[in-house]
Amino acid sequence: MNSIIDVEFGLEGNVRIYEDEKQRYIKAALSMGTPEEQVKLKENLDAIDWSILKNLAHVKTGQERGVFAPLDAVEVSEIEAKAEEFKEIGLNAIREGKVGAVLLAGGQGTRLGLDKPKGTLNIGLTKDLYLFEQLVHNLQDVTNEAGAYVPFYIMTSTINNEDTIAFFEEHNYFGYPKEYVKFFIQEMAPACDYDGSVYMISKTDIAMSPNGNGGWFSSMVKAGLLDDIRDKGIKWLNVFAVDNCLQRIADPFFVGATIASGMESGAKVVRKAAPDEKIGVLCTEDGRPSIAEYYEMTEEMATLRKENGELVYLFGVILNYLFSVERLIKIADDNMMIHVVEKKIPYMDVDGTLVKPEAPNGYKFETLVLDMVHMMADCLPYEVVRGREFAPIKNLHGIDSLDSARELMQECGIEL
Ligand code: UTP
Repeated sequence: MNSIIDVEFGLEGNVRIYEDEKQRYIKAALSMGTPEEQVKLKENLDAIDWSILKNLAHVKTGQERGVFAPLDAVEVSEIEAKAEEFKEIGLNAIREGKVGAVLLAGGQGTRLGLDKPKGTLNIGLTKDLYLFEQLVHNLQDVTNEAGAYVPFYIMTSTINNEDTIAFFEEHNYFGYPKEYVKFFIQEMAPACDYDGSVYMISKTDIAMSPNGNGGWFSSMVKAGLLDDIRDKGIKWLNVFAVDNCLQRIADPFFVGATIASGMESGAKVVRKAAPDEKIGVLCTEDGRPSIAEYYEMTEEMATLRKENGELVYLFGVILNYLFSVERLIKIADDNMMIHVVEKKIPYMDVDGTLVKPEAPNGYKFETLVLDMVHMMADCLPYEVVRGREFAPIKNLHGIDSLDSARELMQECGIEL
């Protein structure tokens, strides 16, 4: 691995990371450690490709993007008119074993502040109802109707893998057949403070965190799951987030619409609630499908309206995508954009004290599944009704919270 830094982001050029004067947490850890611990730490440091720190340059300048243009969605009214056709195609694909589901559950849920995997959150009010459980129920709605099980892959990280598996075991997979569930672990990346000083978590260990949700397919390949996908004849993978308790999984209408469109991917989208809503918008970039993050849109772009008053960039993504396996295999080794994300990062300070910050204190490096959309030749934006399918839990209270999700679930008639 390359442990040499050769970039200018406040770090000196061409030095080993532990020789860099500005790496104060590493320096402190080295000075505190025994000779054995120092050797261990250097080994750990040498195992990391530090060129990832180059991405800090994007904090100031932003990532370079191409030319965005609007992309029309297949809207709810059109979906309703073709509902039977879409459903039939989707259910048949499920019955033929062509659809798999991938739950992205490797995140740390720092905004929620749980020490356990996010999916273990109890969203019930009068009874226990765990986020993982609700997601399994949502999937079972489909598998019951199809009369066939959907292979269910769950991405975890080294931090939450054991707890996640133990939770599913303890709850007997919430009634889903265990042989259809497979776990795999995603990669990790180092985290640093605002000056680019890499955080340590002990005298030998770097503060590593899950490297975003974009590497899910290559992690599946590394875990040997491509054989499983091929053996089962899976042609489509439906990828979704752990924290949207209302989302439909392996939704036959969505699967059917995407297959019928002839496109190699589909994305569930909702109408933006307001021009400044913090949601990525599905559009095209240099002629290919892409997602413009809310902070990448100019005010003009965000507020631009059609003659009928609707926003031109109207449809926001909700982290529920369908990807063709054939295309995923082709792009599995392609480099993905690395995003520098501000987060709360627990660390060991230079005096050896462990700090659990209350507010963001630095950067993590993440690839994002939304960037995969741009690696597809085309993508069907598929509109869903927000109140029925979008209840993300990012915080305990306020916007996108446990409170708001509970309200939305009750409005959908789900007993809590
Ligand atoms: P978020 O972007 O909300 O991140 O993840 P998070 O880690 O869960 O929460 P915060 O930002 O720290 O509060 C969106 C989805 O992507 C998954 C999450 O588990 C969630 O389903 N994810 C995120 C991963 O699987 N791996 C990651 O490295 C990051």
